Amino acid sequence: SGNRTLTMIKPNAVANNHIGGIIAMIEAGGFKVVAMKKMKLSPELAGKFYEVHKERPFYDELCEFMSSGPIIPMILEKENAVADYRELIGSTDPAEAAEGTIRKKYAKSKGENAVHGSDSDENAALESAFFFSETERF
Ligand code: CMP
Repeated sequence: SGNRTLTMIKPNAVANNHIGGIIAMIEAGGFKVVAMKKMKLSPELAGKFYEVHKERPFYDELCEFMSSGPIIPMILEKENAVADYRELIGSTDPAEAAEGTIRKKYAKSKGENAVHGSDSDENAALESAFFFSETERF
């Protein structure tokens, strides 16, 4: 076992039937899916998840988009999970995402960028607790 990160497949990717394609890339990248569910965020919950971005100009748009349809949050496990997963997903802006990354293949724009990935071990733990109860994380 290794350490963990939190990802979400975002509404655009779920709506466009890319759940399987994205999970295939995650598993091929050496990550184990240790928790997974399908759910829809309310704008209020999306706002809470993205609270650190509250002052950014794109905050309202981000919360509206993230509550526009179902998402798939997952906890992923691998050695060096946070950094390795951010490498696998690629840059926030799909125009800058490297070949072979999830965002290169599935992102539409900086906002509709297909997947989330935690930016630190501390946030991975906080974000995992946001989506999954104790009995769902094992
Ligand atoms: P993520 O890295 O998962 O978390 C922060 C999110 O803010 C990021 O994904 C993008 O979806 C979103 N974001 C960042 N920059 C912009 C932008 N310029 N316009 C809209 N959304 C953005």
